[in-house]
Amino acid sequence: MTDTSPNAPIPSAIPPVVLDHPLVRHKLTRLRQASTSTAGFRRLTRELSLLMCYEATRDLAVEPIEIETPLERMEGWALSGKKLCFVSVLRAGNGILDGMLDLVPAARVGHVGLYRDPNTLEAVEYYLKFPEDVAERDCIVVDPMLATGHSAAAAIDRVKAAGVTNIVFVCLLASPEGVAHMNERHPDVKIVTCAIDRELDDHGYIRPGLGDAGDRLFGTK
Ligand code: URA
Repeated sequence: MTDTSPNAPIPSAIPPVVLDHPLVRHKLTRLRQASTSTAGFRRLTRELSLLMCYEATRDLAVEPIEIETPLERMEGWALSGKKLCFVSVLRAGNGILDGMLDLVPAARVGHVGLYRDPNTLEAVEYYLKFPEDVAERDCIVVDPMLATGHSAAAAIDRVKAAGVTNIVFVCLLASPEGVAHMNERHPDVKIVTCAIDRELDDHGYIRPGLGDAGDRLFGTK
């Protein structure tokens, strides 16, 4: 029977990919700990970003190429699809960029800055910059926390408006509410995350979560 309740999953949405790996569990647990220093938080975020990037790029196209090893000719593989653009949702998304660029150093980078209007609660854009050829690229949008999902969805609106058709969203942590919002607004966008936590609290924090990712990354609290 079809589930028609308001919380019913949208059948066509791509299921989120939760990284199920001992290193991810270990590093994410260290990241969550309140006692982890700013330097430790940054290092762990970078390491987790590498692992998330590995998963987020899983479907990139490759083609066979002939190469010569020191011993003989062989058929290897080269990336053959569209080039990549990472899009950071300011400011905390920048903490994830470094690890991503370690793995794909030739990628271009775009930035989206949004704040929430306290009266309308709408996401208001204060900064937007994409590479000129972004429409010819696949995009990986990065923001550490998928909380309400409103800013992620609004950032992806901008990326789609720029002509991008293939988008993956990468975050360290997601809330069930954030995943549901993204599934509704952007069912074609795959979410890659290290964990989906229990809930979003009344202040918009993911619980149990890791606190304010931006403050912990930049030492602003
Ligand atoms: N943003 C954060 O940094 N942390 C949360 O828990 C939710 C949103």
